[in-house]
Amino acid sequence: MPNPKIPHPPRLPFLGNTHQIMGKEVVANMLKVTKENAPIFEFSMSGHKDIYICNNELADSVLTSPHFHKAVSKPMQQIRNFGGDGLFTAWSHEPNWQKAHNILMPGFSRNAILSYFPIMVGCINQLMDTWRTKHAGQLIDIQGDMNKLTFDVIGLCGFDYSFEGFTKEETHPFVHAMELALNESVKRAFIPAPIRALRFQKNKKYWASANYMANLVDEIIQHRKANPDSSKTDFLNLMLQSVDKDTGEQLSDENVRYQIVTFLAAGHETTSGLLSFAFYELLRNPEYLAKAKAEAAELLANGTDAISMKDLNKLDFLRKFLMETLRLYPPVFMFTVYADKDTTIGAKQYPVKEKQMVRVFTYHIHRDKAVWGENADQFDPENFDLSRMAKRKKTTFLAFGSGQRTCIGQHFALMEAMLTICMVLQNFDLELAEGYQFELANNVTLRPKDLKIRVTPK
Ligand code: HEM
Repeated sequence: MPNPKIPHPPRLPFLGNTHQIMGKEVVANMLKVTKENAPIFEFSMSGHKDIYICNNELADSVLTSPHFHKAVSKPMQQIRNFGGDGLFTAWSHEPNWQKAHNILMPGFSRNAILSYFPIMVGCINQLMDTWRTKHAGQLIDIQGDMNKLTFDVIGLCGFDYSFEGFTKEETHPFVHAMELALNESVKRAFIPAPIRALRFQKNKKYWASANYMANLVDEIIQHRKANPDSSKTDFLNLMLQSVDKDTGEQLSDENVRYQIVTFLAAGHETTSGLLSFAFYELLRNPEYLAKAKAEAAELLANGTDAISMKDLNKLDFLRKFLMETLRLYPPVFMFTVYADKDTTIGAKQYPVKEKQMVRVFTYHIHRDKAVWGENADQFDPENFDLSRMAKRKKTTFLAFGSGQRTCIGQHFALMEAMLTICMVLQNFDLELAEGYQFELANNVTLRPKDLKIRVTPK
């Protein structure tokens, strides 16, 4: 039947469906609601009726259509309070998106990222020194440490600034400010504006965090402008020195600030989530651990200085393993597009109105049995064997988003993750905390809850 009505879970007057996901466990509630109502349903929140899609047939229809474009969702609109029209939170039609995309793309190629390896190696060495000197044989909070690592790496690769995650006892205030600003942005997105205005204390802390981040990044930009150093190959120099090939224009200082804040926001928790899930899967599967150790030994046979692109391309198991980790645990578990006209989606031609938001629910799409088979929920790196990948549509794997607005930092994240896993496995014996019961944490991005790992130097 063409144009069937899109179903929806029962709604309450005024609240719509909001009550079904709000509460302490937003992520768990969201996964439950989407699973129960898959593959397609309408969800009413804050007066909007968004469509959720949860299988590949529908995702493919939306993501290959010229009538759907990235939407700056409600939480993203709040993140614009400090990320402005940075790459992640800009609408595609805003001039700064294309400009920044053109200027920054060369800095994120695989070859460019290889030049950041000495910085990454330095940060990973600091992580391992801390484990060796302070936590040998003890349980560590892997997500916390991976967060510190990824923050340090982006700070140094991005603008030569150290957040000193492992060299100082106290966490850098910027890290707290970012965490508060991101979490509060998501909450603000679902609270009606008049009520939001009454959250005086929360608002005060929110704006103080946003201002703190802006001031610190502005100082860094001004310092670099006053002390130019063309030998540095970080993102800051790239942004201050390059012009957009289309317009011949440079980025404004304000936009450079937005991009830096964006890289920190978009790049640290996602990559640290990937690393935490990856260690979890490695440590509960001896066969995968042995394969990963063998590749680590080969990569690091001549030390970290000698790593070339050819060596990285040989890490076939780790590549498959990380992709499979991202399939089952995509840190960004959904993204949003909107229709530019009244249209339909899927073979059943579900109707979508102009400007209506469609939420592409990566988490379930990655577990679609029609694509991944009856064992779709099971971890199997061979899903990313090159010959199997060649047979699948691009839209079956959406951990880094899709199309024009796909993740600019994906090679950066994957190369950082590979290097971290290899260096850690070469130097430490790792063990999951006894009796650990896997659960997902309630967080803006997906991560394992309370995962502890024992780290013993070799
Ligand atoms: C495993 C790690 C990562 C994952 C899973 C991830 C995921 C994603 C996803 C799903 C999107 C698309 C969002 C949308 O369509 O609304 C995206 C965009 C983006 N990501 Fe990542 N990301 C990761 C790492 C990074 C890193 C390390 C950086 C920067 C250093 C970064 C910077 C960005 C930026 C700037 C965008 C917006 C690109 C644009 O629209 O032009 N990401 N990411």
